[in-house]
Amino acid sequence: MNAATRGEVLLDVKALKLTLGGSLILDGVSFEVIDWVREGTTTGQIVSLLGPSGVGKTRVLRILAGLDAPNSGAVLGKDGKPLEAGSVGVVFQDYPLLRHHTVEGNLELAGAIGGLDGAESRKRTKELLKVFGLTERASFYPAQLSGGQKQRVAIAQQLVVPRQLLLMDEPFSGLDPAALEDVMKLLVDVANLHELNTIVVITHDIRAAMAVSDTLYMLGRDRKPDGTLIPGARIQATYDLVELDLAWKADVQSLPTFVALEREIKAKFRTL
Ligand SMILES: Nc1ncnc2c1ncn2[C@@H]1O[C@H](COP(=O)(O)OP(=O)(O)OP(=O)(O)O)[C@@H](O)[C@H]1O
Ligand SMILES: [Mg+2]
Repeated sequence: MNAATRGEVLLDVKALKLTLGGSLILDGVSFEVIDWVREGTTTGQIVSLLGPSGVGKTRVLRILAGLDAPNSGAVLGKDGKPLEAGSVGVVFQDYPLLRHHTVEGNLELAGAIGGLDGAESRKRTKELLKVFGLTERASFYPAQLSGGQKQRVAIAQQLVVPRQLLLMDEPFSGLDPAALEDVMKLLVDVANLHELNTIVVITHDIRAAMAVSDTLYMLGRDRKPDGTLIPGARIQATYDLVELDLAWKADVQSLPTFVALEREIKAKFRTL
């Protein structure tokens, strides 16, 4: 067992309900993120929200980001207070970057929008370009980048101004195995920059989610006895990887308990 203790609640998602065009999409989605405290380390939080395509993951993320309002329910931060405007960063599924700005320009603009002055924004941009291995691509335009490079720019863009909560929609899709490893490591590094940092990852990549997260939440719908899906998704299962002694381990993917849990989650996934 890791010597880890539970600290305060950092994110409290309460009973989100959402209908779109008359269809029930979310029906009481509740989950929370707590501060994991490990003596002698700075441990941020990584929580993954797993679920099949079309179940409502991106909709949950948009509500967390404050971009959409739910029909009912609430998203609260530390001390039960609403999240502060500007405290949440989002990396979207399709990495939207400004076409007429270079990589460097996209990052500097994110700094300006986030309230940094020009010099600060340029300094932060330079640092991030280096960290993300993008210095040689600084003067490229988005159209001249590969998918993986675009993704790194999109992540870097959300880090120009420090954010305690970073939401990422499908950060593992479309990457080659080496780039996938890099992005996984990057997420862990970014989370661990600050004790209260939290990254919420939305994904259907079970293995990658298991390898980086402290907690997995599975979003899904119920089924009728005849097997048909009942509209309205909610959290169907929670996997506490700290409890299972699978969190914060570099070589976790080779452990028999990891492999067994992956099999269990995959089987559950097929039912949602
Ligand atoms: N205006 C609308 N009217 C009815 N249904 C809608 C509307 N907009 C979105 N939906 C439905 O909401 C559901 C949730 O969509 P969402 O984008 O959150 O799925 P997702 O879990 O992120 O899927 P993926 O993994 O494919 O990205 C989808 O089934 C979609 O068809
Ligand atoms: Mg989605």
